[in-house]
Amino acid sequence: MADTLADYESVAAAVLPVAVRDFVAGGSGSETTLRLNRATLDSVTLTPRVLAGVAEPDTTCTLLGTDLSMPALVAPMAYQRLLHPEGELLLARASADAGIPYVISTLSSYPLEKIAATGPSWFQLYWLRDRTVVASLVDRAAEAGCGALMVTVDVPVMGRRLRDVRNAFTLPADVAAANLVDMTTEAHVAVPGISAVAAHTTSAFEPAVSWRDLEWLRTATELPLVVKGILDPRDARRAVEAGADGVVVSNHGGRQFDGAPASIDALGPVVDAVGNDCSVLLDSGIRSGLDVVKAVALGASAVLVGRPLLWALAVEAVDEALALLRREVRDAMLLAGCADLAAVAGLTTGRASWPT
Ligand code: FNR
Repeated sequence: MADTLADYESVAAAVLPVAVRDFVAGGSGSETTLRLNRATLDSVTLTPRVLAGVAEPDTTCTLLGTDLSMPALVAPMAYQRLLHPEGELLLARASADAGIPYVISTLSSYPLEKIAATGPSWFQLYWLRDRTVVASLVDRAAEAGCGALMVTVDVPVMGRRLRDVRNAFTLPADVAAANLVDMTTEAHVAVPGISAVAAHTTSAFEPAVSWRDLEWLRTATELPLVVKGILDPRDARRAVEAGADGVVVSNHGGRQFDGAPASIDALGPVVDAVGNDCSVLLDSGIRSGLDVVKAVALGASAVLVGRPLLWALAVEAVDEALALLRREVRDAMLLAGCADLAAVAGLTTGRASWPT
């Protein structure tokens, strides 16, 4: 159905309503950061090694106690029933079969327990105004067997996503935040000048969350703690000092602060700042196995893959998409003469000297 992971966007476009397509594809503001993510990843070069004697590269790794068949996880993404009636359950089953963890969003449209029962999962936490709900989500995630807690810190408020505003986007009646019963009414009601999903975020999320809250969270769970949405190396250091086991260098796929740098540009300084003190993951704009290999070469332990998997979900092709991604990682490693991910990390990286 698709020759590359990136192809699923156009395949899915044929079956999805425009407002859902825009909700998934869109970024905030003028979508400068959204475009920058791709342009910058395209400009990264890797110098391949030769005569490496490799027939079958080893794409596996272990991340914070979880075994991965390749250095990738399914990014936490809200409301997957927008794409398919089985939503999160279908994508989580496919990621278990593919041997990579599925990160359950706070805003999943099936209950986290039901998703976690399908295979190895991590839980993504949004900071809600009600601390008791935050504490209960943390406990539920641990109880359900999630392997790590990933707290997203780049959404004090939702970035202004103009496509959603112009489409007056609201959630359909059969899609809701299943983990937050009684808190989802706004997401279904159109408000002039603001999308319904943004209105829900404003009422539910705590904008003034701070490092003290992160320190509290560290005491509230024994799960490995990963902080998602870091771009400044000073914040990465601060996260380590607060007890984080990992950080995700991410601009939320260009959906939050428009004008932020491409994640791939922010990666090197963060890796330098934290050294071996925590794992460094990356997301935003990963569209191929080659992109995964580029991120690892620039210092990432693994990446989160976002939109391409939602497009694949819409056309019931998630198994195929994840198999394709693994094949692309393998082929890129083979062509670059890398027997394993340590060899990828040792490749020489550069930047194309022509504008992309
Ligand atoms: C997201 N993202 C996201 N992040 C998060 O921490 N919690 C969430 O609930 C969501 N929801 C969400 C919905 C949709 C439709 C998208 C596209 C993204 C951000 C996501 O985890 C990740 O950071 C980006 O998607 C990565 O960029 P790419 O790979 O989509 O370009």
